[in-house]
Amino acid sequence: MISQPLVLGIETSCDETAVGIVRGRTLLANVISSSVEEHARFGGVVPEIASRAHLEAMPYVIKQALRDAKVSLSDIDAVGVTAGPGLIGALLVGTGAAHGIALALDKPLYGVNHLSAHLAVDALDQSRDLSPAIGLLVSGGHSSIIEVTDLALAVKVLGSTIDDAAGEAFDKIARVLELDFPGGPAIDRLALSGDPAAIDFPRGLQSSDFNFSFSGLKSAVARYLQQTPEAIRADVAASFQEAVVDVLLTKALRACAETGIAALLIAGGVAANSRLRAEAARRCQMAGVELRIPPMELCTDNGVMVAALTSLALSAGVAPSAIGFPTLSTVPLNQPTWA
Ligand code: KG4
Ligand code: ZN
Repeated sequence: MISQPLVLGIETSCDETAVGIVRGRTLLANVISSSVEEHARFGGVVPEIASRAHLEAMPYVIKQALRDAKVSLSDIDAVGVTAGPGLIGALLVGTGAAHGIALALDKPLYGVNHLSAHLAVDALDQSRDLSPAIGLLVSGGHSSIIEVTDLALAVKVLGSTIDDAAGEAFDKIARVLELDFPGGPAIDRLALSGDPAAIDFPRGLQSSDFNFSFSGLKSAVARYLQQTPEAIRADVAASFQEAVVDVLLTKALRACAETGIAALLIAGGVAANSRLRAEAARRCQMAGVELRIPPMELCTDNGVMVAALTSLALSAGVAPSAIGFPTLSTVPLNQPTWA
């Protein structure tokens, strides 16, 4: 087994055409081409437009990643690609490219779970050994609390959202507030000038389990805006964001306490939220929990996370995926790579 494999990772599950290159646990390149502006006027990602944009961008993104990493394609030891969950047409462009490269080089190919890949970015922080953590995965499609022992093999899901994902709630509330798409970063920016304590929005599902629900909060914000013509939008954004952050961190830290795992790993697009990052740092310090949170640019979708998970799978001796593995729009969190 190669001890420090050079891995190329491809991500095309949504609107980012992204290629990352890692050597073992070291990041060498992170190139992203986004079609987000082409979707903005539709208020959401249009699958057909995303797929076409992936096809156009792919060759350039791959070449740029190789240039940045100062390696040539023939140096690559393995190829990883997001096989799901995501938009099928978009995923197929990535898996098609990955199959082409792996077959031409005669190298192993791994179809990986986008959700596990978000968490795998943490492996690139070499300041400590790989060790168990409670994962808080918060993206556009998922919100879950996970016991992470070995990402390449399996994870244990402790709880998930029963309705909207955290990112989805951000995107929907942004629409109600007439903010630009994508909504998460727009709310984050607007909230900076608002008062998080201005409106006491409901926290939703304060049960003793690890599930989330954001639909009540969403309705409460919409109702508040309808009934309060003089509403200050920045206060609404900040108070909504505060409710989401509070619920996420309360349950995640309770999972740390109940499992005795004193490390919290936050990943996925919503992990880029400035309030979540600041509040997580504060609460983790108070609770004596080590906070692991990737740099902002590695929280939202990228190819590095796919390369990182592929590298972990190689090190763990996981068998490559079969050529022609399927792309899937939904995938259970506990399947890190495809057989
Ligand atoms: O992980 P990701 O890039 O794609 C998925 O796998 O879904 O997550 C995208 C989600 C979107 O809902 C977006 O609004 C949200 O992450 N997001 C944020 C921020 N940046 C991205 N939410 C809150 N604050 C942010 N700064
Ligand atoms: Zn994602």
